[in-house]
Amino acid sequence: MKRSIKDLASVEGKRIFLRADFNLPMDRFGRITDTTRVTSELPTIRYLVERGAKVIICSHLGRPKGFDFRLSMWPIALILMRYFPGKVQFAHKVIGQEVKDRIANMSNGSILLLENVRFYKEEEENDPGFAKELASLADIYVNDAFGVAHRKHASTYGVARLLPNAIGFLMENEIQTITEAIQNPKKPFVAIFGGAKVQDKIKAILNIAKSADVILVGGAMAYSFLIARGETVGRSMANTESVAYAEQVMAELKEMGKRLVLPVDHVAYTFGDRKEKTFVTEILSGEMVGADIGPKTIKLFEDEIKNARQVIWNGPLGKYEDEKFQKGTFEIAKEIAHSQAYSIVGGGDSVSAVKQAKCMRMINHISTGGGATLKLLGGENLPGIDVIQEKYL
Ligand code: 3PG
Repeated sequence: MKRSIKDLASVEGKRIFLRADFNLPMDRFGRITDTTRVTSELPTIRYLVERGAKVIICSHLGRPKGFDFRLSMWPIALILMRYFPGKVQFAHKVIGQEVKDRIANMSNGSILLLENVRFYKEEEENDPGFAKELASLADIYVNDAFGVAHRKHASTYGVARLLPNAIGFLMENEIQTITEAIQNPKKPFVAIFGGAKVQDKIKAILNIAKSADVILVGGAMAYSFLIARGETVGRSMANTESVAYAEQVMAELKEMGKRLVLPVDHVAYTFGDRKEKTFVTEILSGEMVGADIGPKTIKLFEDEIKNARQVIWNGPLGKYEDEKFQKGTFEIAKEIAHSQAYSIVGGGDSVSAVKQAKCMRMINHISTGGGATLKLLGGENLPGIDVIQEKYL
């Protein structure tokens, strides 16, 4: 068990360096499209503010190469101001005298949001000098940036080694919920995987398979599994490498005696006379491109979910961003939401699908992480968590 902010002695008057994940999705005009990652962070910020801490919040936004005004944290400062009127300031830098002066003038229970930490190349290099600069800003380090806990960066790892540290509520909840679901699952436990790349999910599938009763696979990666099983997939997305990964997963699942359920029909399209033709088929061949699971597969998956007491879902089951191919993903999202099973949904795309299907509130745990969630599901070590001291030291 990692030390949490509740385990910290008084934080009144203390400068807390809070690493949050405010990497919010944006549309092509640079407008923020979803603020869940800010609202999920509010309990930790409130806890610290109410106890009189000086809360210095640091986050990245996007993957900038140097300073890029389109990825400034300023719009996020405006969002925070709505929740904490009169308490939020913004620093145009992350380190340096200007930031130090602002911190020196902070009153207890106030918030300072720093600029995008990835404007500094030293961040991703986990540069020791940069980490030291960050550490010089605060008395205590709190990591609540679950979404970026798999990165060994200066603000997620380097600085944590230089200060007394703890995790925040969001991080604590993610670790406890996901670990508990894998180590002590409610049975029958159904795991559903989708998305494009088998290789990104191998560890998660095999780790979950240790405790799951059945693994359902849809989305683009299902085509690699179908090829590995000797079926044709037409021109659907798959390559030699992904098929080899699928073969490996199938062999290991077989050895573990675990059931793997693959799609039995598909919504596919072809291009004829420059026109796209969409249809349902059980066999993908020739020029056909699979883009969603078909009605029989939806029913098959729904029956498994109805029977489950726990469901973990990661990755969309088709090209859900195109309305012709969103039925499979949305129907499964709704089935999970309405089922009796304890449900966990992780990964940016599946979470966004759940949101579009309007069933967010009926899912028990929506993970804020993408890569980090997959690594935790895969039983892998996350540097941003490992670096935090244990509760009882
Ligand atoms: C995410 O959105 O998954 C996290 O914020 C991590 O972002 P990154 O993949 O750019 O490190």
